[in-house]
Amino acid sequence: MNRLKTRLTEVLQIEHPIVCGGMFRLGRAELAAAISNAGGLGIITSATFPSADELVEEIRLLKSLTPKPFGVNINLFPTTRGPAAGDYLAASLREGVPVFETSGRSPEPYLRSIHDAGAKLIHKVAGAQYAKTAERLGCDVVSVVGNETGGHPGMADVGTIVMVRQAAETVGIPIIAGGGFGDGAGLLAALALGAEGIVMGTRFLATAECAVHPAVKTWMVDARADDTTIIQKSIGSPMRVAKNAMASRVVTMEQEGANLEQLLPFITGSRNPTVYSEGNLDDAVWSCGQAVGLVNDIPTCRELIERIVADAIASLRRLDTLRVGSPELV
Ligand SMILES: Cc1cc2nc3c(=O)[nH]c(=O)nc-3n(C[C@H](O)[C@H](O)[C@H](O)COP(=O)(O)O)c2cc1C
Repeated sequence: MNRLKTRLTEVLQIEHPIVCGGMFRLGRAELAAAISNAGGLGIITSATFPSADELVEEIRLLKSLTPKPFGVNINLFPTTRGPAAGDYLAASLREGVPVFETSGRSPEPYLRSIHDAGAKLIHKVAGAQYAKTAERLGCDVVSVVGNETGGHPGMADVGTIVMVRQAAETVGIPIIAGGGFGDGAGLLAALALGAEGIVMGTRFLATAECAVHPAVKTWMVDARADDTTIIQKSIGSPMRVAKNAMASRVVTMEQEGANLEQLLPFITGSRNPTVYSEGNLDDAVWSCGQAVGLVNDIPTCRELIERIVADAIASLRRLDTLRVGSPELV
């Protein structure tokens, strides 16, 4: 099939400029292997595993499932439970993990050991100004995610188009655009904005290999783009989630002035398994971005990735037909 070669595919040594971002509880070996085997970058989310040893087991499983590059997400958000980020990182480096994705806080304390091991670091930010910081620190790649994103958008409510464009005007390292991508036209738009690829989370939930209850996937196929909502803004840690009974409850609590302690029992993610494993869609808040409005089917990761790349190339050709005048003047 045709491919799109960008600085991202070169830096990460992958075939297609498509990354699956870290997904707490869902970023596991089977999903990551399916994405990496299809030519994208699959990522295991370390916070899913209660100990560094269990993370190592998952990395070994992933290595047995794919010979291709993959990554490990290290969550630096202050609310993260479990082992310290440094323990996850050290264990992953011993396993020869080639790519890391960090988010939530500055990755500065970890950069040297990542680079000393010959690995690459993608740092994910939710504001163009932080992309500049990531570059200054020496990150290899920066993911820039706008307000449409599943998981954590920034406090400023800036959408992906403006944020990626601003970042592209200010940084020289490769940018991955995130927040709202789910198809080939989106990938092409990201490249047009100056990004070198896309990071998706929401779209990868509705794939055959994602180990989430079928009821979640079916809900996503039926959902509209406005079936998500932002919670936790009152505590300075906004999160875009599926609009369900629990999200409405949290929004109401925030409007009534609930503090962090009162909100915590509903927002930590400890209740996620009831949604993800049992399919009780209203029992917990769970991350979901506006790209859910672009989900119309439940393909395999390979079908999805190949379709996105083929459609991006088709969109590129279609745009070329809009050009008026002789090519050499353009
Ligand atoms: C279910 C789910 C869980 C997520 N968990 C994490 C996480 O643990 N760490 C992280 O850095 N990003 C997390 N994200 C964000 C994704 O890695 C990715 O940046 C984002 O989903 C991209 O935007 P999109 O949802 O519009 O595709 C999560 C997203 C989803 C949908």
